Amino acid sequence: MHYFVTGGSRGIGAGIVEYAAAHGHHVAFTYVANAAAAEASKLAAEAAAKEAGHDVQIRHYQLDVKDPAAVEAVSDQVLEDFETMEVIVNCAGVNRDNLVVSMADEEWREVLATNLDGPFYVCRQFIQTLMANRFGRIVNISSIQHEGGTGQANYAAAKAGLHGLTKTLAKEYGRRGITANVIVPGFFDTDMTRETMPQVNKDYWKQYCPMPKGRMGKVSELAAVVEFLASEGGAFINGEVINVTGGLGWTV
Ligand SMILES: NC(=O)c1ccc[n+]([C@@H]2O[C@H](COP(=O)([O-])OP(=O)(O)OC[C@H]3O[C@@H](n4cnc5c(N)ncnc54)[C@H](OP(=O)(O)O)[C@@H]3O)[C@@H](O)[C@H]2O)c1
Repeated sequence: MHYFVTGGSRGIGAGIVEYAAAHGHHVAFTYVANAAAAEASKLAAEAAAKEAGHDVQIRHYQLDVKDPAAVEAVSDQVLEDFETMEVIVNCAGVNRDNLVVSMADEEWREVLATNLDGPFYVCRQFIQTLMANRFGRIVNISSIQHEGGTGQANYAAAKAGLHGLTKTLAKEYGRRGITANVIVPGFFDTDMTRETMPQVNKDYWKQYCPMPKGRMGKVSELAAVVEFLASEGGAFINGEVINVTGGLGWTV
């Protein structure tokens, strides 16, 4: 199949790119600023595909998902390069934490624009191709903070909105053979959590996550769920919120 993954240069997105390639899928993925990381992700995916005996096409594209004109231009280019697309994964995301009382307009807008507007633009753009194919799998990456998290009003609002967008897509396009689901990751070891996750949340996770030593998730464990949703096993799963949290779906 053909995958389009936003935010595939690092972290969870890079894990999804590599896993998909290793399972024989062609992958177009995006980054916003980190060209070196995007190239490293591409090379890792190509190596994984080769090791598994697959000959696949992997390409990266610079894209700021906040910009609808750029989303249109990149999706057109992707469709020219790959000719079709079947699996759309909205993984690009940022956080700009602050308490509501101190949150600047820019912090609010940046997170809403990246984490909610972006997936909307991407889905709107590719839905025509998926409809034409009468097949599509949309997977939107949320967060346990969709239920609210201290200092994360912007992030929580964006992720909760992503659930509404996804469930609507499921209802509007299910009849056309397109499923749309949300994955809710717990805590995974990525730049985002390493650089910005408050210590209080890390301590809480370690203490209460019912996994050995309260471990964080591995990106391959998240990527495997995306692969499942794109496979026959996911064909009748539509409009669902799937927790991949190790059993701890709540934070402070
Ligand atoms: N890590 C976790 O534990 C965790 C938990 C819950 C939910 N999530 C969600 O999982 C997703 C991935 O998180 P992560 O931890 O892997 O993050 P990460 O390591 O910080 O990577 C973020 C990715 O998003 C891209 N990106 C950021 N802003 C963008 C924009 N405006 N347009 C296009 N791409 C943009 C980055 O590109 P560059 O490399 O070019 O900067 C990078 O590829 C996010 O949606 C996040 O909210 C993560």
